[in-house]
Amino acid sequence: MKVIVEKPKKINGIIELPGDKSITHRAFLFGSIARGKTVIYNYSKGKDCMTTLKCIENLGIKVERNEERIIIEGNEYREPEDVLNCENSGTTIRLLSGILASKPFYSVLTGDSSLRQRPMDRIIKPLREMGAEIYGRSNDKYPPLTIKGKKLKGINFKMEIPSAQVKSCIIFATIFADGKTEIEEIYQTRDHTERLLKFLDGNIRKEGTKIILEGNQVLKGKEIYIPGDFSSASYFIASTFLIPGASIIIKKVGLNPTRTGFLNVIERMGGKFKILNQMEISNEPVGDLKVEYTENLKGVEILPSEVPNIIDEIPIIAILGCIAKGKTVVSGAKELRVKESDRIKSITTELKKLGADIEEKEDGFIVKGGKKLKGTNVNSWNDHRIAMALTLASFIAEEKTIIENSECVDISFPEFFDKFRELGVNFKFS
Ligand code: S3P
Repeated sequence: MKVIVEKPKKINGIIELPGDKSITHRAFLFGSIARGKTVIYNYSKGKDCMTTLKCIENLGIKVERNEERIIIEGNEYREPEDVLNCENSGTTIRLLSGILASKPFYSVLTGDSSLRQRPMDRIIKPLREMGAEIYGRSNDKYPPLTIKGKKLKGINFKMEIPSAQVKSCIIFATIFADGKTEIEEIYQTRDHTERLLKFLDGNIRKEGTKIILEGNQVLKGKEIYIPGDFSSASYFIASTFLIPGASIIIKKVGLNPTRTGFLNVIERMGGKFKILNQMEISNEPVGDLKVEYTENLKGVEILPSEVPNIIDEIPIIAILGCIAKGKTVVSGAKELRVKESDRIKSITTELKKLGADIEEKEDGFIVKGGKKLKGTNVNSWNDHRIAMALTLASFIAEEKTIIENSECVDISFPEFFDKFRELGVNFKFS
């Protein structure tokens, strides 16, 4: 599918966004292993989360789906009859492997051509240290993964790569292991797994930079409300700075401080926003965001230490860099090269086609703001975050921009174009 975008005349209104993708994955997985029923509201209907749901059904778990909620009856998994297909979802394969490594049966996990190129040695190594029998293609680097589950033991794990997926894999594995696990994070990554585990009566605590949890835990199924996805909200926040006069309110969006680094970036660029009605739901901070067009954003320097906190928003920062005064420099973001696409390459290549002054670095990019963009044909590289970032780029490009393979927005945010329509933006599809 192609989407044809022209500069919008206005962006104005109040929206509420579907549930956070990361938290939805975790709610589905925790629901599948908790005692009793877990009822999940405002869940993400993105393909990635639906993939996790399908996988747990293939492991014998009963799932009841309807528009506004998912009900999961936690139970012992049974050996899957076939290969588990994790499609495009890194979160599914990495988190589920943690659970399966401790289950007394054989399982194989694979995915689409993008997922089959994504590194899995980062989970294989610590899981093996816990006693797991897990193998991957190409000398344990890539999926398919094969697992012969067995009883694991807790470990002391110092994370070399800041990755919430790796951390969560080890947390899930520990829930069924003997003994305790200590995880040390150099840079704090998103902590949704820790928060939800606690919410479901699990035993987990933090001491400085260490996360400590006991093995052999029994969790309790509960009602979980998923806050609006902050990463999805970021496209709307950014769009407000692209169209003079724009003003929006995003209701009930997740404001977990391990996710909202993008707001700090906006602040440094000089963008105006306000947080209203803050509260906690299902152990996650939530609030409303009011964002207003601000003239003369300034270029910004992104430091390696803040990268984990803005990891999915970096392509958006490239777009803001195009309109900001001066240089925007991103460093220490090599992890972007092993996402759904090589996001350093994909965003710099496509923005160059639109005329942006952007230069690829090994661990990031440099954008010089102020160069006028002109619409042309660009491609999403089948990466949802690139498709959505390019939609923002087309808001500031003269004439029409045609984004090919735009259907991949469905991976995290099938409602993406509709929500922009609610704010007055028109799209054509072909
Ligand atoms: C995610 C963590 C991040 C992020 C991904 C979702 C998660 O990946 O990029 O979209 O749900 O834990 P890493 O933790 O591997 O950086």
